[in-house]
Amino acid sequence: MNRNVASQEPAPVAIRRATVDDAAALAEFGARTFFETFAKDNTVEDMRLHLASAWGAELQRAEILDDEIDTLLACDAKGGLAGFAQLRPGHAPACVATVQPVELLRFYVDKPWQGQGVAHQLMEAAESQARTRGARELWLGVWERNERAQAFYRKRGFRKVGTQIFVVGTDPQTDHVMLREL
Ligand SMILES: CC(C)(COP(=O)(O)OP(=O)(O)OC[C@H]1O[C@@H](n2cnc3c(N)ncnc32)[C@H](O)[C@@H]1OP(=O)(O)O)[C@@H](O)C(=O)NCCC(=O)NCCS
Repeated sequence: MNRNVASQEPAPVAIRRATVDDAAALAEFGARTFFETFAKDNTVEDMRLHLASAWGAELQRAEILDDEIDTLLACDAKGGLAGFAQLRPGHAPACVATVQPVELLRFYVDKPWQGQGVAHQLMEAAESQARTRGARELWLGVWERNERAQAFYRKRGFRKVGTQIFVVGTDPQTDHVMLREL
């Protein structure tokens, strides 16, 4: 098992699967974190279009109910959301040469919890869930300009294997595709 310094310290959060009761809080959390992270690098209109298409209680409710998607929440001592991860098996770009691909679809940690080990704890849970799905590799797309996230993923053993386009609103952006063996 991949151990790191953070995982040897007391766990700051508890990881659990999302239920439909979490849909509204997850939608608010995801939209807010996306906005806080990316608003400065995108137009107001592209942000508005993206937020409307990706975040909303009904959208997250459908994702939570989807058997193909694993939604894992990191919750603080009061039950508040500190972060979440979503995994989805199936489709992968050609640069991901694996028979049973699982994508780390979304991976967000709230600002006050960044740099606190929560991302490591959540990633360990995500990797474990991907193994349960039969995956031997985990892959993800990360914006070429999101250097903090890339640094974190490299720490977790991911390496760049290619690129893909991710459209934010009307803006086709280049994502690095990263992969790690499990
Ligand atoms: C990406 C994310 C999950 C990483 O979690 P985290 O707790 O911030 O990660 P860590 O602090 O352990 O690691 C980040 C590393 O990047 C470094 N870093 C911080 N800012 C950086 C920058 N602007 N450029 C490069 N590296 C940076 C940190 O120093 C740290 O490295 P270190 O441990 O060697 O010092 C979290 O920052 C996050 O949720 N961000 C907002 C949403 C997001 O971008 N999600 C990913 C979408 S693909």
